[in-house]
Amino acid sequence: MRYSEIEGRYFLSYEHIHLSVHALANRIAAEGFSPDLIVAIGSGGFIPARILKTFLKKPILTVGISYYGPDNKPALSPHAIQWIDEVEKKLAGRKILLVDEVDDSRVTLEYCLRELLKQRPAEIAVAVLHNKKKEKRGRLPDEVHRYFAGEELDDKWICYPWDALDIVAHEKIARSGVMSR
Ligand code: G4P
Ligand code: MG
Repeated sequence: MRYSEIEGRYFLSYEHIHLSVHALANRIAAEGFSPDLIVAIGSGGFIPARILKTFLKKPILTVGISYYGPDNKPALSPHAIQWIDEVEKKLAGRKILLVDEVDDSRVTLEYCLRELLKQRPAEIAVAVLHNKKKEKRGRLPDEVHRYFAGEELDDKWICYPWDALDIVAHEKIARSGVMSR
C-alpha cells in the first residue's frame, strides 16, 4: 500500500486507491450486497465509482453536489449542481450503491441519501474510500443499513491523485513518505 502522511496531510497514490477500492468491492460482495446501480457523488466520487465498476460491473449514474456557489462563495447548505432528473425514476425498486471519496462532515451524504430515498429504491448502501474519524454534522437516515468505508483516517486533509497539479511529484511523495506501508 502506498500512502504518506506529511505535515498533517495524507498523500495517496493511485495504486493505493485502486487497491483500497478492490478490497472495498470484495467486502461489499462478502456481505452479500449486490447493487443494481452505482450512484456517484461528483466530483470526488467519480473516479472511485469508476474503479468500483471494474469489480462490480454495474452502471453508474451521477449526481453533482457542491457547497460552493457559482461565485465560489460557500453556500449555507449543499445544493445540486446536477441531478439525475429524468433517469431518477430508474431508481424505484432498485438496489443502489451511493459512492463518494470521503465522508467528512457527512452533510453531503445525508442530503443525497434523503433525496434518493424519495424515489423509493429497494435499498441504498453507502461506500466511501475514506471515513474521517470525527464528530459528524450529518447523519445517515434510518433506512440506510449498510455503510462501507475503505479506510478510517484521522481528521486530516487527504490529497488525492486526481487533484494533483503535478502528478509525478504527488506519486513520488505518496510512495516515499514517512507512513508508507
Ligand atoms: P461529506 O458530506 O460527504 O462528508 O463531505 P462534505 O460535504 O463535508 O465535504 C465538503 C467538500 O470537501 C467535498 O467536496 C469533499 O470532497 C471535500 N473534502 C472533505 N475533506 C476532504 C479531504 O480531506 N481532501 C479532499 N481532497 N477533499 C475533501 P465538494 O465541495 O462537495 O466537491 P468535490 O470536490 O467533490 O467536487
Ligand atoms: Mg466530494
